[in-house]
Amino acid sequence: MQQLDLRVLIPRQDIADKVQEMGEIISRDYGGQEVLLVVVLRGAALFAADLCRHIRADVVLDFIAVSSYGSSTSSSGVVRFLKDLDESVEGRHVLIIEDIVDTGLTLTYLLENLKSRHPLSLRTCTLLDKPSCRRVNIRPDYVGFTIDDLFVVGYGLDWDQRYRHLPDICIHQEG
Ligand code: IMP
Ligand code: MG
Repeated sequence: MQQLDLRVLIPRQDIADKVQEMGEIISRDYGGQEVLLVVVLRGAALFAADLCRHIRADVVLDFIAVSSYGSSTSSSGVVRFLKDLDESVEGRHVLIIEDIVDTGLTLTYLLENLKSRHPLSLRTCTLLDKPSCRRVNIRPDYVGFTIDDLFVVGYGLDWDQRYRHLPDICIHQEG
């Protein structure tokens, strides 16, 4: 077994407070209109589950799965669809929910793809943002925490499919 060092970066209470605050801002912005939350599997599932319970509007949940080719800790920039939406996007207010935006390649790809399906509006929401790692110029509309160039796990985020269940967001370092 590999020697691992997990240090808490964002404790669970700080996450809960931030998610509530984000939900209140989103509720205000959409003013009670229906919003289709497009949850990017698998990482954003936990965040979306908590966030949607703070949104006071007609919320419809749908899920999309993409995979970026590459190693577990770095993105190659090539994105592949694993699961498409069940809902139609056309004429609806769509909000993409991501766990983390790193190079920005995944979110850029999703934005372009969903834009071509003619939503009424299209915005992006991420719990974590690593702007120092950007390879494309993209700024999410709603950001929970801006973090340094660190590899983090927990609260949905994985390292090779592990640690998604951790309640806190932790820094993952191979020892
Ligand atoms: P991007 O396309 O480089 O912006 O990266 C998007 C995806 O890479 C995210 O949705 C995550 O699945 C993964 N990712 C990027 N940084 C991290 C991290 O620090 N921990 C866990 N997954 C990450
Ligand atoms: Mg992801």
